[in-house]
Amino acid sequence: MPQTRFTDVRRFDSIDSTNRYLLDEARDGAPEGVVAVADHQTAGRGRLGRTWEAPAGANLLASVLLRPDIDLGDRHLATTAVALAAVDAIGAVGLAGVGIKWPNDLVDPVGRKIAGVLAEADLSSAGAPGVLPAPVVVGIGINVNWPGDDADLPPELRGLAVSLRQLSGTAVDREALLDALLEALGTRVDDLDSPEGRAHLATDLRRACTTVGTRVRVDLADESFEGTATGISPAGHLVVETDGGTRLVVAGDVVHVRPGS
Ligand code: BTN
Repeated sequence: MPQTRFTDVRRFDSIDSTNRYLLDEARDGAPEGVVAVADHQTAGRGRLGRTWEAPAGANLLASVLLRPDIDLGDRHLATTAVALAAVDAIGAVGLAGVGIKWPNDLVDPVGRKIAGVLAEADLSSAGAPGVLPAPVVVGIGINVNWPGDDADLPPELRGLAVSLRQLSGTAVDREALLDALLEALGTRVDDLDSPEGRAHLATDLRRACTTVGTRVRVDLADESFEGTATGISPAGHLVVETDGGTRLVVAGDVVHVRPGS
């Protein structure tokens, strides 16, 4: 195990959701740095209320409990820190060229999804005197050794998702990947604590981001619009040029739109 602040690693053969587990632990006062890892989840949670399904024993399913003592407006960078740490970790086990589709999907060079990140916050104790900073649990599911090839994927994922094993042509050691992730998290999460560190996260997100330079449709809770993603702001938000002017996307679902479609 490498030197890392994430040393309290709790392992489960099967659990409903590692995010759910750590949110409950956080409510009971667990400190920053607790990690939950599962071989299988029976009710894995995805973004936008979706479920996250993965065959037992094939992927890396992990959540980390963070308690960033920073403004509410900067807390989305916890997701960025974990996504960047995952890119670092995948690089450390030998796979370069992984990008981030804004805000938090890891993708291969042709845009197939390798991993998804889901942050869930509990702000109920925020600001109360004498209590720990409010928790944010960030979970990641990385497609590691599943499936054998594209034909083994559920039809709806074919061509859209890919595993590290498919990309490298060989099985990837999940323990080595977890160790690399925990080590990378140490550095990336440290960056949350200072303005310079947060600027560094936004800069590295800009470098890794495959969304910049593409035509996008942005789906917000109450509207959708199209434009060209032109950058990442110093705060880590997506900058989109539309016919009506520049829009800054703080949160939302982004679809890469093929020109002319
Ligand atoms: C997405 O929809 O892209 C995000 C998926 C996040 C899945 C991970 S797996 C480990 C952790 N526990 C959960 O229940 N979800 C996250």
